[in-house]
Amino acid sequence: MTKPSTRRPDHPPFAFVLFGGTGDLAMRKILPALYAAHRDGLLAPEGQIVAVANTALDSSGYLRWVGEHVKPHIAGTPLDDSVWRSFLERIAYVALDASQPEAFSLLGNTLASGHGRRIFYLATGPALFVPICRALASAGLTEGSRIVLEKPLGYDLESSNAINDAVGQIFKEDQIYRIDHYLGKEAVQNLLALRFGNSLFEPLWRREWVESIQITVAEELGVEGRGNFYDQTGALRDMVQNHLLQLLSIIAMEPPRSMDADAVRDEKLRVLRALKPVLGDEIRHNVVRGQYHAGAIKGASVCAYHAESGVGQGSTTETFVALKAEVENWRWAGVPFFLRTGKRLAGRIAEIVVNFRPVPHSALGPTALRPGSNRLTIRLQPNESIRLSALAKQPGMGMTLQGVHLDLAFDQFFQQDRMEAYQRLLLDVIGGRLALFVRRDEQEAAWRWVAPIIEDWLGNASPPKPYASGTWGPAAASALLARHNTCWPEEEN
Ligand code: BG6
Repeated sequence: MTKPSTRRPDHPPFAFVLFGGTGDLAMRKILPALYAAHRDGLLAPEGQIVAVANTALDSSGYLRWVGEHVKPHIAGTPLDDSVWRSFLERIAYVALDASQPEAFSLLGNTLASGHGRRIFYLATGPALFVPICRALASAGLTEGSRIVLEKPLGYDLESSNAINDAVGQIFKEDQIYRIDHYLGKEAVQNLLALRFGNSLFEPLWRREWVESIQITVAEELGVEGRGNFYDQTGALRDMVQNHLLQLLSIIAMEPPRSMDADAVRDEKLRVLRALKPVLGDEIRHNVVRGQYHAGAIKGASVCAYHAESGVGQGSTTETFVALKAEVENWRWAGVPFFLRTGKRLAGRIAEIVVNFRPVPHSALGPTALRPGSNRLTIRLQPNESIRLSALAKQPGMGMTLQGVHLDLAFDQFFQQDRMEAYQRLLLDVIGGRLALFVRRDEQEAAWRWVAPIIEDWLGNASPPKPYASGTWGPAAASALLARHNTCWPEEEN
């Protein structure tokens, strides 16, 4: 009698080839995420991980490197030594120079014995994306495989098109997984659940009832040793072009027909294509770029951006952006979407605030028009929560209204651990699920929208506006909202 198969269809076998195997991303995110998936029993037992980098190490040298550099980044339950050892058994290392196609036969030899689906994860600089894909193709390794591209995919519309064209000659679109790790965050997927699982919000989710929407992704961190990379990138390319526009598209999209990858991505694409271009003088009026100066974060002094290592003298790279976007369609015409992101700000917060219109006539007196009520705040991180701010009557004889909150803290309601974004996304790649990855046309639409701003800043001699580290950015970001009779949440009262 044949033994029943223990293979689970949802845990398919794989050969996960990680280019950039000794890089920062591998160390901080990808290997810890694979470890967590292994620990949680979510990987097929025969799944193998092949790390590839240019560093001359043998496999045991690499495993020592993993022990030293990856272990400290593993979150969650205390590390179990036997689980860790069994994780290391999955890992092989291949030292090769990714710019030398001849070297790829080495990789071919290592993969020859594996039977799972090949996944090539490019956690390298974008300059290596095309050479790696071509070398994989000439080594005959691409058939039926999947390729994962990390951001930044290119530097602007043109360079991202060049990469997508070249990669597209080797891999079909349904083999290409473009990562935006925000899409793997539980809280971001919850936006879909909130909008499309409840009938409560849908009738109000439109221009007739929504006055403005604010999306903030604020960080306390600075450039964290990534000065070389960041100085060539800046907040617009690093955060707005991808994470913030993805959030905007999820908030503004029409209900998709299903959660099928293309159904969701088609709707997000429609939003991105409906973004009103920000051109000419509007850039000066509606886009604020800032750069952090010295200041203090949680009481500790931190240096100015231009004093960070790897940052060019007199750099005009922005570490902060605030802007007004508009979605030109029937649902959203005239509703401003204020987007804001920055490093070295006063807090680490990612949240979406939906400001509903005030009541049309206040029978209850002027307090009924108080700011801060009629608002839905969706906190994505930290402490994922949803808060509905409303007005209620203060107890007593009069009719004095006061702001009250209906709060839902997700970690109190759902007590199980959250999966890290990378873990979720890597499992999706292994399982062949594309819904949480960015399709080429979405990426192109996002680049197209930021392109005029990038161009304007290139030709614009005026430097970014300074802000002290530990504040909420330049005063111009507050002025932008004040011109629309509103303010950022922390400015209320
Ligand atoms: C990355 C950016 O994509 O997102 C980083 O390159 C930024 O600069 C990071 O710090 C923020 O991600 P998270 O998940 O910490 O909000």
